[in-house]
Amino acid sequence: MDPRPIGMFDSGFGGLTVARAVIDLLPDEHVVYFGDTGRYPYGSKPLDDVRRYASEITRFLVDSHDVKMVVVACNTASAAALEVLAAETSVPVVGVIEAGVRSLVEVTTTGRVGVIGTVGAVGSGAYQHALERADSDVRFVAAACPGFVEFVERGETDGEQVRVLAERLLAPIREADVDALLLGCTHYPFLARTIGDVMGRDVVLVSSADETAFDIRRRLEDHGSMRRPGDMPARHEFISSGDITWFEDLGRRLLGPELAKAAAHRWL
Ligand code: DGL
Repeated sequence: MDPRPIGMFDSGFGGLTVARAVIDLLPDEHVVYFGDTGRYPYGSKPLDDVRRYASEITRFLVDSHDVKMVVVACNTASAAALEVLAAETSVPVVGVIEAGVRSLVEVTTTGRVGVIGTVGAVGSGAYQHALERADSDVRFVAAACPGFVEFVERGETDGEQVRVLAERLLAPIREADVDALLLGCTHYPFLARTIGDVMGRDVVLVSSADETAFDIRRRLEDHGSMRRPGDMPARHEFISSGDITWFEDLGRRLLGPELAKAAAHRWL
């Protein structure tokens, strides 16, 4: 039994898809979520920069918020930094790539799958490695989708412009005749309606959020560190390095009522 919070982070709003799944699956756990909106996007930055940001946020969550676990709720940061973070952090560190790939492999019946993500995450080769570890027989096609994250961060989760961009970026995946598509960026589930329309009904969209929440539960159970429900309801804290009013307004729309308030953090 460990009453400390679970720490989570992303470049901005994307990790809220994972936070939603964690809050729903583990309603007694305290959660501290950090959205690095002051330094977003991560997906177009060199992986070394993303690795440094991820280390800074992880240290901040452990040192200032005494978290019992750090969830890297961002595929780009998971691709860039998971191993480094696990080596330099005293608490367990959980990423999103393995979980997403596991779901993808489970869902496909034809063995032909697609993966979409940021330029950084797709270029890192992390999905290819994870897929080879999970099932070497699955054939996959990957595409980077620059621009998707910016639409989400602006709060434009549907509409004509997103659709036009989606049609262009998803064309190579459609041509590959896949039966399942991994939304390999935690922002993308917010665009699922548009992506689903463009891909068509026969393609199952897979997000890493639920499977990551199951991973987190398993890790807490293994360490005997679930929080026992007591008199105090679970606390959900949100911190942003960018515009706080925007983080609260859009964050509440995307996550739900748990995001009532956010606190500001300024990087020195
Ligand atoms: N949500 C992040 C991911 O899963 C990164 C988005 C970005 O900042 O480019 O990759």
